[in-house]
Amino acid sequence: MPTSLIRDASPAEFIQTYRANADVLCAELSAGLLAPQAVTSPKYLYDALGSKLFEAICELPEYYPTRTEAGIFNAYLGEIAQAAGVGATLIDLGAGNCAKAARLFSTLQPAQYVPVDVSVDFLRDTVGHLRQRFPHIEMTGLGLDFSSALDLPDAVRRDKRLFFYPGSSIGNFTPDEALAFFHRLRAACDTDGGLLIGVDLIKDKAILDAAYDDALGVTAAFNLNLLLHLNQLLGADFNVRDWRHLGFFNLEKSRIEMYLEARADLTVTWPGAQRRFLAGERIHTENSYKYAAQTFVNLLAQAGFGDARLWTDARGWFAVIHARAV
Ligand code: AVI
Repeated sequence: MPTSLIRDASPAEFIQTYRANADVLCAELSAGLLAPQAVTSPKYLYDALGSKLFEAICELPEYYPTRTEAGIFNAYLGEIAQAAGVGATLIDLGAGNCAKAARLFSTLQPAQYVPVDVSVDFLRDTVGHLRQRFPHIEMTGLGLDFSSALDLPDAVRRDKRLFFYPGSSIGNFTPDEALAFFHRLRAACDTDGGLLIGVDLIKDKAILDAAYDDALGVTAAFNLNLLLHLNQLLGADFNVRDWRHLGFFNLEKSRIEMYLEARADLTVTWPGAQRRFLAGERIHTENSYKYAAQTFVNLLAQAGFGDARLWTDARGWFAVIHARAV
């Protein structure tokens, strides 16, 4: 895919390498929906409304990860910065509104900040504002889908690369996918590099169940909104009212599983295909793996990230981990 370098009036650089290909996307969605256990990638949960609903989830009393992680960063920022080192090339994977990284700038003092998201349009305004607040930090926005490959352009400094992956988004990969992802990160940095990552830890099932099936129904709306997104992407005729949200912790697999379950027998049609769903049949829409801290540290070590330092909250619900490329 061609890489385009987009320069605009602001001195910030934006590089877009990811281009959504509608045919590939429809083929992938269609194959997933027609599979015996219907499945869709969690990335389709995040259209414009889905992203807003996720922001609302982060405010819910039951959804502890966001505020617990923020508490850990607040409490241990000095120590974390000391472990991660100042003057890094801070590569913010799935940067969104860049708020989490921006809170680290004063202490971490990165030499270059590289927010990565699928679309640079999303990053443009935020980076513009950030540059005004932190004019001494070089900033390069990258429009890149890092979930399957990580080709960093030359504009990203090679020295002291610090990959930042907060929010326990790593849990939305399977452990095998997470390992492959860590290998890609390791290959993209030298021995002066590292990884700063947020991980959600195993805890009481009742706490986990509530976090993914909240009383207000915001997570249900987030999950059901996927159907509207599929209607738009695929030209399907899902009726949201025909489906119910399920979100619960599967203890054996150590993961939250989210599904949409048909309330009655129904047929869904989209160009070139249709599928009959019986009442109770499900579409698997997301997994969110929860780790024991040591299991996660071992996974990092397998990929070449060692000397792990770990910070956690008083309840031991969430961990922020820094590991060095070794
Ligand atoms: C983005 N990700 C880390 C969230 C999670 O907790 O797995 C997505 C989410 N799904 C339902 N609630 C939040």
